[in-house]
Amino acid sequence: MDTIVVLDFGSQYNQLIVRKIREAQVYAVLYPHDVSFDTLMHMENLKGIVLSGGPKSVYAADAYTIDPRILEGPWPILGICYGMQLMAHLSGGVVHKAAKQEFGEATITIKHDRLFKDTPTTQTVWMSHGDEVIELSSEYEVLAFHDTMATLAIKHTQKPWYGVQFHPEVKHSTYGAQLLKNFALDIACAKPTWNTQHAIQSAIEQVIQTVGEGRVVLGLSGGVDSSVAAMLLHRAIGSRLTCLFVDHGLLRAEEATQVMETFEGQFGLTVRRLDVKERFLDALKGVYDPEEKRKIIGRLFVEVFKEAALELGGVDFLAQGTLYTDIIESGTKTAHTIKSHHNVGGLPEALPFKLIEPLSTLFKDEVRALGLALGLPHEMLNRQPFPGPGLAIRLMGEVTQARLNTVQQADAILRGVFAKEGLNEEVWQYFTVLLDTKSVGVQGDQRVYEEVMAIRAVSSTDGMTADFSRIPWEILAHVSRRITNEVRGVSRVVYDITSKPPGTIEWE
Ligand code: XMP
Repeated sequence: MDTIVVLDFGSQYNQLIVRKIREAQVYAVLYPHDVSFDTLMHMENLKGIVLSGGPKSVYAADAYTIDPRILEGPWPILGICYGMQLMAHLSGGVVHKAAKQEFGEATITIKHDRLFKDTPTTQTVWMSHGDEVIELSSEYEVLAFHDTMATLAIKHTQKPWYGVQFHPEVKHSTYGAQLLKNFALDIACAKPTWNTQHAIQSAIEQVIQTVGEGRVVLGLSGGVDSSVAAMLLHRAIGSRLTCLFVDHGLLRAEEATQVMETFEGQFGLTVRRLDVKERFLDALKGVYDPEEKRKIIGRLFVEVFKEAALELGGVDFLAQGTLYTDIIESGTKTAHTIKSHHNVGGLPEALPFKLIEPLSTLFKDEVRALGLALGLPHEMLNRQPFPGPGLAIRLMGEVTQARLNTVQQADAILRGVFAKEGLNEEVWQYFTVLLDTKSVGVQGDQRVYEEVMAIRAVSSTDGMTADFSRIPWEILAHVSRRITNEVRGVSRVVYDITSKPPGTIEWE
């Protein structure tokens, strides 16, 4: 398959470059900036190289660079921001601290060239840089400029090498996606063959090749990643896949049943439901501290999974639904933003199996598309995030079966009303939280002293920051009425109007 390699110089946008090129149906992959020339030469169907942006200055003593032989390779090159400055610098040009740093949108004027095919003469781009190219070697000509900067895009006069100072991968660059497409299809001449069917086929082939006649075990949670991984593995190796579903009793109402019905009932996968509710409740008895709850659940989860996996016998591989984002974010040496993943369990180290990660080249939206093509329902693939420790961290204080039932019922009411009102697609995440305090109320003519339930609903893009959702009063009133009427022991409902920061999305 034709491939574009993006060399990573540490830009926060480097994943976006890969994604945008894939959106043009060309397979793209991120490599560290110091990948060797030989590695690239041995790649089949490498059609072009993109040098990403990055936070350093090309003239700094500790600047990142590339194996110089890469510039002698047969491939077209596109440098973005730092990448362009590096190209200019390596050819004898001069890069300096800019008189005026530029962050945000800018309007530029371009000269028509195949890099800018199907884009207008003046266009909006996204700038984010502190340096600029102030002198260009005669090997290059200028392709774009604006009123304060003369060199905003460059082109080599002899070779298919281009550079842009702005960030075409960011959506504020109005024609950025077109530019990356032009590079991939017209300049690098890659064939646009990367699509969902292709991704499924190549993932299946990879699994068959790796697993051979072996057997695989997978932890199925009902979340998007493990669900799609399960479907894919099942397609590839059928009954040699066993899914283990840890039913710890901390899921939302009906969720465990749905997982079993979908995977075992509808699709015929081998799923073992490990009914360990009592074990979790026992371990959580008398525990009030949120961090302690999380730790106990994480540890027990691994323990239960490990026991069951070993008991199966004859297992060779442990499959995980790791995504490309997880790999990039925890793995590249140049990446500056490293997200801490708080997934339950550290399964690979705990088990004597080889690891297989069939989704590890894919982004979340690609995984969703794959899931859809493999027959999984839309609702399952577009589920809102659900924390590994489940409802245990949505009830403050001790976890008991009675309190789990209370929060499950309230949550089911909230979800039902939001779905009916069409808010389920609109609001990023919503749930109820049972507080660890009681309040006075009046029911009939009686004074009561009962539980308080909070409603949390937020808008966000990645969970790192969030704003509370402005839900219409009438809808909140309806949810409140239903919860206080239908959920035994709850006589007060409050709405959480805190954003993140300073709050977090979950309460514990
Ligand atoms: P906070 O509460 O930190 O949550 O603002 C941010 C996002 O992460 C989810 N979350 C978790 N996800 N395991 C997970 O897989 C966890 O332990 C966990 N804790 C929080 C949370 O639901 C929100 O979407």
